[in-house]
Amino acid sequence: MPKIKIAFFSVPQKEKNYLTKKFDKKKYELAFLKEGIDSTNPALKDADVLSVFIYDNVDKKVIDASKKLKLIATRSTGYNHINTEFAKKKKISVCNVPYYGENTVAEHTFALILALSRNIHKAYVRSQQSNFSLDGLRGFDLRGKTLGVIGAGSIGVHVMKIAKGFGMKVVAYDVKKNHMLEELLDFKYVDLNTLLSASDIITLHCPYNEKTHHLINMNNISKIKKGALFVNTARNGIIEPAALYYAIDRGIFSGAGLDVFEGEELLKEENQMLTKNVPLENVEALLKRNLLLRRENIILTPHMAFDSQEAVERILDTTVENINSFFENKNYYKVI
Ligand code: NAI
Repeated sequence: MPKIKIAFFSVPQKEKNYLTKKFDKKKYELAFLKEGIDSTNPALKDADVLSVFIYDNVDKKVIDASKKLKLIATRSTGYNHINTEFAKKKKISVCNVPYYGENTVAEHTFALILALSRNIHKAYVRSQQSNFSLDGLRGFDLRGKTLGVIGAGSIGVHVMKIAKGFGMKVVAYDVKKNHMLEELLDFKYVDLNTLLSASDIITLHCPYNEKTHHLINMNNISKIKKGALFVNTARNGIIEPAALYYAIDRGIFSGAGLDVFEGEELLKEENQMLTKNVPLENVEALLKRNLLLRRENIILTPHMAFDSQEAVERILDTTVENINSFFENKNYYKVI
């Protein structure tokens, strides 16, 4: 029996060792590719499985170039970086890791909320410079404030549970409603406009797709309660960039905690930008990001909400289980 070939993209060294130990060497041949995913990569030709992460764009060209491909296994919850429709057409399965880190991402969401509400990030920078003045550092209580959760799924629900521990009121907007959960966790489903106008803090936890593309946009941004905090640990495209910058400029958002933002995928390439031909829109995205960085009321983190020791191990274990189960005709986390 020929070995099943798995081409891994975007795997850090430490995780490579972990994965190598977990796969049966008699059954699988693993290739860890240093370069980004690209249709010209010779490894695609005979790969049975592509194992990818959020910045690996598995588009039509990549799928077409992967002549023997049977499974695309993303090591993430979101799968908007994969052309699933085209994969389906070509009868290629796609799996993800749906449940590795609802607490992990929810905890990071609250790290951002607490940093913003109590000015921890500002105090940290000042104390590094031996400035222990309280000027401009007064925060606000979370207790009694309203949290608006857009997307009350695994992560959103965990965020709600934490919010309840802080004594917050919670409203949620979701296309699917679970009224038992609503009663149990003591929150209220509302429509999007009501959530925007009622929330002191808005946090995004829905997937990014054609329906959620620019869900918050220039047409509804003015509905937001003036001075609300905005937190995005979901995906950048859910808010229209122009609306985000407008809301920050006009004080509609008094602060924002962004784990995902325009140009985040360019972070790794930034150092090479001076020597490479770079599309103008990439330079523009970086400039906008740098403008955000200059503002004291904005906290950017580099898409790291998933990145705890426990969560990463769960991601890798589930990926191994997904791939094994696919080839053993057992149940796995199938997207299509
Ligand atoms: P989930 O599938 O459990 O929950 C998503 C919720 O959004 C569902 O309740 C769904 O009904 C709702 N939803 C779908 N379409 C909607 C729409 N048009 N309007 C309002 N609600 C809608 O997903 P989970 O695990 O909670 O993850 C949510 C997202 O978080 C992922 O899709 C991913 O993009 C992002 N994520 C970010 C991470 C990071 O490191 N920053 C890590 C993990 C996930």
